[in-house]
Amino acid sequence: MLDPIEPFAYTPFMNEFTIRGFGRYAPERIVTNFDLEKMVDTSDEWITSRTGIKQRHVVAEGETASDMATKAAMQALADAGMEADELTHIVLGTFTPDAMIPSTACRVQQKLGIKGQMCMDVGAACSGFLYGLETARGYLAVKPDSKILVVATEAISHRLNMEDRTTCVLFGDAAGAVIITGGDPDGKPQLLDVMLGADGSLGDLLTVNGGGAAAPYKKGDIVGDEYFVQMQGRETFKHAVRNMVGISEKLIKKCGVEKKDIDVLIPHQANWRIIDAVGRKFDLPAEKVFVNIDRYANTSAASIPLALSEARDTGFIKPGNLVLLTAFGGGFTWGSALVQF
Ligand code: ACO
Repeated sequence: MLDPIEPFAYTPFMNEFTIRGFGRYAPERIVTNFDLEKMVDTSDEWITSRTGIKQRHVVAEGETASDMATKAAMQALADAGMEADELTHIVLGTFTPDAMIPSTACRVQQKLGIKGQMCMDVGAACSGFLYGLETARGYLAVKPDSKILVVATEAISHRLNMEDRTTCVLFGDAAGAVIITGGDPDGKPQLLDVMLGADGSLGDLLTVNGGGAAAPYKKGDIVGDEYFVQMQGRETFKHAVRNMVGISEKLIKKCGVEKKDIDVLIPHQANWRIIDAVGRKFDLPAEKVFVNIDRYANTSAASIPLALSEARDTGFIKPGNLVLLTAFGGGFTWGSALVQF
């Protein structure tokens, strides 16, 4: 049986994966904890003390996951000094797609005004960006001249039951993107390695079942609770800390890196207490752990590329830094990546 934390620790055929550009987008509308106090039986004090969240961005009427992803992608392309038609692949992580068909990746391609690229969505909930990075490495391993947009985007507000205080206060909408290529790094950040894991036997702890083939709707049905995010928070919390720490320890060991070598940790922004626990396990002081959950809440797959882009642009990440990314999400899925800036 596979080690559940290290099912796929292979060495790819090539080893230069360059992150050429970063981008992010969050909708204009901001909903604070005080706004939520007027909508559901909660308080700013409860949300802040349990999660670290103060506010979240929420899509405008008609604004979709692909709209946000396209904006993040355009910023990443500009940052890379590339035109959209140079892309060869679009890999998109989301659990809140625009539609079942077409894929949200195809929608982004359309909105970028390009054609012909391979486009696919990756379904790994909050780990979707890291799963996307590994997918990109796979394509680059077989086609080294690929130029790949890896974008993660979530319009979670559409899938929140505003009568369920245990979930509706936790999430926000946003997108983040990177452009990955092979070839000469030319001083750009290098994606050193990625490690992923999953345990489907725990899938029922965090679900959005409604509308899937296992919870289908007939014409005229009214959506029920199953249409929305449902989570057993306390159980999820335990698995999140254990697996983010476990896979990160395995990844740095595989890469010959010690905890003291890590300059910046960018964990999935699900809960400040999870972020703090993971940081402590790596003996990292607060000034080395990037946190923006207070402003964006949990943006699922978008959380890591959003944080990565912001950390780079604000100087939190400095040239030469070794950066550890780690995520955990529904499935359950989890993963880690090391990036050398
Ligand atoms: N406002 C006020 N009270 C609340 C709220 C709220 N918004 N939500 C729950 N409560 C109450 C509960 O009803 C409960 O009351 P009771 O004791 O009278 O029954 C009490 O607060 C404690 O509830 P818990 O769920 O035990 O609270 P906990 O401290 O575990 O915090 C939380 C909940 C924030 C959800 C936490 O468990 C967590 O962050 N879990 C992990 C989330 C995560 O990592 N998800 C993975 C990624 S998400 C993805 O993949 C899409």
